[in-house]
Amino acid sequence: MPENTPVPPATAATPKSHFNNWISAIGGVVAMGALFSFALLVWMDFTQGDKNPYLGIFTYIVAPGFLIVGLVMVFFGAWAQRRWAIKHATTAPDKWRLDFSNATQRRYLVLFGLGALGFIMLSAFGSYETYHYSESVQFCGEVCHRAMNPEFVAYQRGAHARVDCVECHIGSGAEWFIKAKINGTHQLIAYTLDNYSRPIGTPLKQLRPAQDICEKCHWPEKFHGNIDISYDHTLTDKANTPFSVRLLMHVNTAGPGGQTGGIHWHVNRNEKVEYYATDEKRQDIPWMRVTSLPAGTSRVYRTEKFIGEPPADKIRTMDCMDCHNRPAHVFPTANDAVEKSLNSGALSRNLPNLKREAVKALLQPGIETAEAAPAKIAEYLSAKYAGAPELSSAITEVQHIFATTIFPERKADWRVYPSNIGHKDWPGCFRCHDDKHKTDKGQAVSASDCNSCHTILAQGKGAEFELLNAKGMEFKHPGGDLDPDLTCSDCHNGGIQK
Ligand code: HEC
Ligand code: HEC
Ligand code: HEC
Ligand code: HEC
Ligand code: HEC
Ligand code: HEC
Repeated sequence: MPENTPVPPATAATPKSHFNNWISAIGGVVAMGALFSFALLVWMDFTQGDKNPYLGIFTYIVAPGFLIVGLVMVFFGAWAQRRWAIKHATTAPDKWRLDFSNATQRRYLVLFGLGALGFIMLSAFGSYETYHYSESVQFCGEVCHRAMNPEFVAYQRGAHARVDCVECHIGSGAEWFIKAKINGTHQLIAYTLDNYSRPIGTPLKQLRPAQDICEKCHWPEKFHGNIDISYDHTLTDKANTPFSVRLLMHVNTAGPGGQTGGIHWHVNRNEKVEYYATDEKRQDIPWMRVTSLPAGTSRVYRTEKFIGEPPADKIRTMDCMDCHNRPAHVFPTANDAVEKSLNSGALSRNLPNLKREAVKALLQPGIETAEAAPAKIAEYLSAKYAGAPELSSAITEVQHIFATTIFPERKADWRVYPSNIGHKDWPGCFRCHDDKHKTDKGQAVSASDCNSCHTILAQGKGAEFELLNAKGMEFKHPGGDLDPDLTCSDCHNGGIQK
């Protein structure tokens, strides 16, 4: 083509595209930003984020959402442009078109182009920040999971407060990746619609198996030996008398060939303990079976009332979580929380009956929201201890206990989350160790006398508590002689003893 031949104006010859308009252009930029973010997030998700499902919310819901909005704008723009062109064919068919030959429009276009570039860069930066944020404990516990605030609070006082939520709740590997994606998305929807259950039901079905979580840091072969633990209580009498029990927990006992028994026997490598629970919370266990693994021989224990065989798909193999089911989220009972404050001095033993009254203040009826609690607690205690110098500090402390252990909106506290580690406030070990589960030869579970799981080294208060007995002693129950027909949790429930 000779150099000086004027180029015919394109607009005159080629039919004009309806996509050439401002709305479509803006939509295009939004869509491009979203696509760019999406690609970046997918890349991050696959290269490093395989244990984080919440990133999925941004990657697979938010970013595509913007992409769709952008595309809708593109097509809407074209449609609107077409309609306009037909309607105003004679007057101003090109009103919304991007026109590079118009100097004013060209200026706008340059500005628009710069803005679009900035937007796309920002969306990349945003994606990167989103990725890091969605992985943090703060995100899990606070923002997305305001629903999970109780767990977040409980987690911070536990032994695992430095273990990320995702370590226990979300695994790595392809299978968990998909599961977590679906689960995270499903949770987001439930949260947005505000229809998650209160309390959040347990035991969790999606929890990773214990071998994958706990055994990464605590391996079952690790020999713990005996562990010495003191339980410091306060009686519900006028003087708020201290009462402690010091137990030697037989976590592992060793024989000549290494470790053979003790509490952690249930998770040893040579035997498998299985059980069947009739209820969702796994509290009612009428049947269990012990199988020696190399030989495959087994013995079955059952309660007298349970006849027949349990459904095969409901049989569960015992693992760490069947005893340590509250490793990260400990909801202490009202009783324990008040005792802890009495022991630390935050609550004064000088106020008569404070143990009882503090527990009652926490459990008084009619506290429906966390917000209503402080006033109700202050009112209750003021009526009991008007004029006492320790009153105001007691009120503050009991309010604090409420705020950190009882979550009325979520209906979360110890009453809905039983702990299976002991047997005082919940059935725990006594679900199986109760002398009522027998083999067909009439043999009961071996460890059912009081000294088989622990020996009492000391008990009582003051000088009495300092008398140690290495052989162990019989439990002197402060509530009177123990009735063999009752289990501890028939009377002890974390509130006022029945
Ligand atoms: C050391 C492991 C571990 C860590 C870390 C952990 N959890 Fe859990 N979490 C568990 C176990 C085990 C359960 C199941 C209890 C059950 O099934 O009875 C659970 C249960 C839950 C539940 C169900 C309700 C309940 O209270 O049982 C929620 C919600 C929850 N965790 C959220 C979180 C959040 C949020 C974080 C981080 C702030 C977190 N978890 C950290 C082990 C952990
Ligand atoms: C990432 C490593 C890690 C994982 C995973 C982990 N733990 Fe721990 N756990 C620890 C550490 C570290 C401590 C010691 C904390 C301390 O001494 O304060 C601990 C302490 C404990 C204790 C004793 C302290 C107490 O008071 O509770 C128990 C019991 C326990 N873990 C059980 C579990 C169980 C059950 C699981 C699986 C749900 C688990 N852990 C998962 C690291 C881990
Ligand atoms: C699901 C049922 C079940 C639960 C829950 C349970 N156990 Fe056991 N436990 C068994 C069975 C079955 C045996 C083996 C009985 C036998 O064959 O003699 C056993 C044995 C034991 C032994 C003796 C181990 C040995 O051979 O030295 C101890 C100690 C023990 N359990 C402690 C506990 C403690 C502590 C708890 C609670 C934290 C608990 N168990 C919870 C079923 C259970
Ligand atoms: C039969 C119930 C039971 C099972 C199953 C069980 N534990 Fe334990 N474990 C206990 C008891 C009881 C203690 C003593 C501490 C206590 O009473 O809180 C204990 C103690 C521990 C401790 C030491 C705590 C300390 O303070 O030093 C760790 C860690 C632990 N268990 C981890 C595990 C892991 C990991 C598994 C699974 C492989 C597991 N446990 C299975 C009942 C159990
Ligand atoms: C199957 C094992 C097992 C048997 C049998 C058993 N205990 Fe325990 N007991 C435990 C465990 C585990 C704990 C620790 C709970 C914890 O760490 O929170 C405990 C804790 C206790 C405590 C301290 C609880 C507290 O909060 O102050 C007392 C007291 C006690 N046991 C008394 C008894 C008496 C009395 C008997 C006999 C009727 C008995 N135990 C039989 C496993 C057992
Ligand atoms: C018949 C009901 C009943 C049964 C069953 C029972 N207790 Fe108690 N228990 C009481 C009463 C009442 C008190 C005294 C209340 C107080 O002063 O706090 C008490 C006090 C206690 C205390 C000290 C105070 C406290 O709040 O912790 C411990 C520890 C205790 N019991 C452990 C046990 C254990 C372990 C068992 C099971 C082996 C058991 N109790 C069975 C009614 C019962």
